[in-house]
Amino acid sequence: MPDNKRKILVTSALPYANGPIHLGHLVEYIQTDIWVRFQKLHGHECWYVCADDTHGTPVMLRAQQEGVTPEQLITRMHAEHASDFADFGVAFDNYYSTHSPENRELAALIYKKLQAGGHIAKRTIKQAYDPVKQMFLPDRFIKGECPRCGAPDQYGDSCEVCGATYSPTELKNAVSALSGAKPVEKESEHYFFKLGDFEESLKKWLFPEITAPRHVQPEVANKLDEWFNAGLQDWDISRDAPYFGFEIPDAPGKYFYVWLDAPIGYMASFKNLCAAKGLNFDEFWGKDSKTELYHFIGKDILYFHALFWPAMLEGAGFRKPSAVFAHGFLTVNGQKMSKSRGTFITARTYLDHLNPEYLRYYFAAKLGPRVEDIDLSFEDFVARINSDLVGKYVNIASRAAGFLTKRFQGRLIEERELMAEDTHISSDMALEQRLYAEENAILAAYAERDYGRVVREVMRLADQVNQYFDRNKPWELAKSSDPLLEKRLHQVCSECINAFRVLTIYLRPIMPRLADKVADFLNLQGELDWAHLNRYPTKPIKEYQHLLTRVDPKAIEAMLSASKESLKMTTTETTPAAAGIEPIKPEITIDDFGKLDLRIARIVKAGYVEGADKLLQLTVDLGEGKTRNVFAGIRSAYEPAALEGRLTVVVANLAPRKMKFGLSEGMVLAAGPGGKDLWILSPDTGAQPGMRVK
Ligand code: MSP
Ligand code: ZN
Repeated sequence: MPDNKRKILVTSALPYANGPIHLGHLVEYIQTDIWVRFQKLHGHECWYVCADDTHGTPVMLRAQQEGVTPEQLITRMHAEHASDFADFGVAFDNYYSTHSPENRELAALIYKKLQAGGHIAKRTIKQAYDPVKQMFLPDRFIKGECPRCGAPDQYGDSCEVCGATYSPTELKNAVSALSGAKPVEKESEHYFFKLGDFEESLKKWLFPEITAPRHVQPEVANKLDEWFNAGLQDWDISRDAPYFGFEIPDAPGKYFYVWLDAPIGYMASFKNLCAAKGLNFDEFWGKDSKTELYHFIGKDILYFHALFWPAMLEGAGFRKPSAVFAHGFLTVNGQKMSKSRGTFITARTYLDHLNPEYLRYYFAAKLGPRVEDIDLSFEDFVARINSDLVGKYVNIASRAAGFLTKRFQGRLIEERELMAEDTHISSDMALEQRLYAEENAILAAYAERDYGRVVREVMRLADQVNQYFDRNKPWELAKSSDPLLEKRLHQVCSECINAFRVLTIYLRPIMPRLADKVADFLNLQGELDWAHLNRYPTKPIKEYQHLLTRVDPKAIEAMLSASKESLKMTTTETTPAAAGIEPIKPEITIDDFGKLDLRIARIVKAGYVEGADKLLQLTVDLGEGKTRNVFAGIRSAYEPAALEGRLTVVVANLAPRKMKFGLSEGMVLAAGPGGKDLWILSPDTGAQPGMRVK
């Protein structure tokens, strides 16, 4: 048990509520969870909070697309995220939402303090506006040709082909990715946070005196230095309606930009926990707080956490983080995760095929304290689980347990007999001591987030234990009836089981579920922690049952192909990444398609419909020997006269629909977003009314 019980608050970044948790996310949540478990097992008071990041345009649009309210969408996503995390053993003390009363209150409070301190400015700016969708367009929702290399279909902020960055107004032939309409420029008043006001205090915080504690990793400090040299700009913190978020106090129709209230969500989640556990919020967030606060984040969101966030906290009179820990990005088989290669793997798809603790172990083996990308290579994954974790560590228990159960009723030899003079082999004497002696190195590696070192160290020790076992040949000792050799057998197997216990304590933050199984097997529930490290077990062990099986490479294949499948199934791609088109509907079979009867039709007559400003009434001939009456919503795009005599395509077997103006006996097909932009289809010359389209 540590001498000084520390009070620590830890966060992971809040995942967006508009998409599923994937393996990339899990690098962060697993990394944080291991650290938190380590602190708790080591006896500190440590709280781990997180939440869904629920606000912003993508959530609003996705909800629209699904035909639900944003609140319904975020409720569903929250449940999905929470169960993904729970299944991976990521044990938050609170998993909350940024769309909460606590967050609304804290965001307003912080904003008002910043305003009172003179750190908020108002300015009118010009921005791209979608006249069809009637909303301002975030850069990511504008597409066009790159102003530098001319590549088509590039986003409003940067070109994926040549890497140029620019503002959306520089794009050529820009269109809204939402409606396809040409954006117009529109003015609006925005609110800004004057980051520059905090330049001096941020510098002091980020680049402290040599001897003072660091708040960011050294490579992060270098990056920040570049940003300071580029100059700190005011930060636009408001968005116009329609927007899913919190309205800014005293500014009707203006909303906090999602990134303003997102980090405040850390505080809000903790505040919610305080109410449940009777904790003191101010003790953790007050200006002179003596507690520790750590944020684990990905390298892509450093600007927000190392500049905006500490500046906001300072401006609003709260404490600043003790440290921000940034990690790199996950690649799969050496490449960026890709939907088409099946390497964009969601947490759920992984769980459907593989044991979550394999991934916890694998990530741990690859994680270090620096901001480096990490690669998930499945070959390496299989090797590390099968040869190291199962082949070395689990192997110790499976080899030694059988003899103890069969020959000694599961009892370990008494500790004082472990080194009994009459039988011990001097070179082995140190094994137990060697295992205990690594405690400090392992504690330090965990504390520094150097889990790769923890795993290497544990595997090195596991090798030594296996060598000890091999050297003493218990399978031969077991054949003899000499009592000294029998005692020797008892010693060797006891020594190995105790070693296995120690290694399990060392690995426990990484594989909590496996450790629970081991605790049960060793009859040591509640005692597999650092406080009990040197306590040699006295209770008999249970009969050995499989603790962990090897990875079956077939399961990996199945997971990858399921990831490709689920790509085909997604109807809910909301980012404009889908080339600005509506998402493709779920796959259908040829039989499904066969149910549709599409026919060539001649428009015999077209006219306006009184009282209906969107409709035209069409009389169409499908070659049936009689005409049909059809209402089509194309009045804004076509003059009736221009349609008469034309051939087009009609859905001929759609159930007739009774409308206010009469019966509609078919449907004319048309494409386009609406308004003037609607186009009906025409067949090539030669097609005749009544021909089936197939
Ligand atoms: N909502 C913001 C964070 C707000 S924090 C106040 C966000 N969400 S996110 O869902 O995009 O990402 C959540 C965390 O997961 C981030 O720290 C991000 O860096 C991390 N990762 C997302 N994809 C990742 C990889 N492919 N690899 C490693 N980490 C990644 O950003
Ligand atoms: Zn370009």
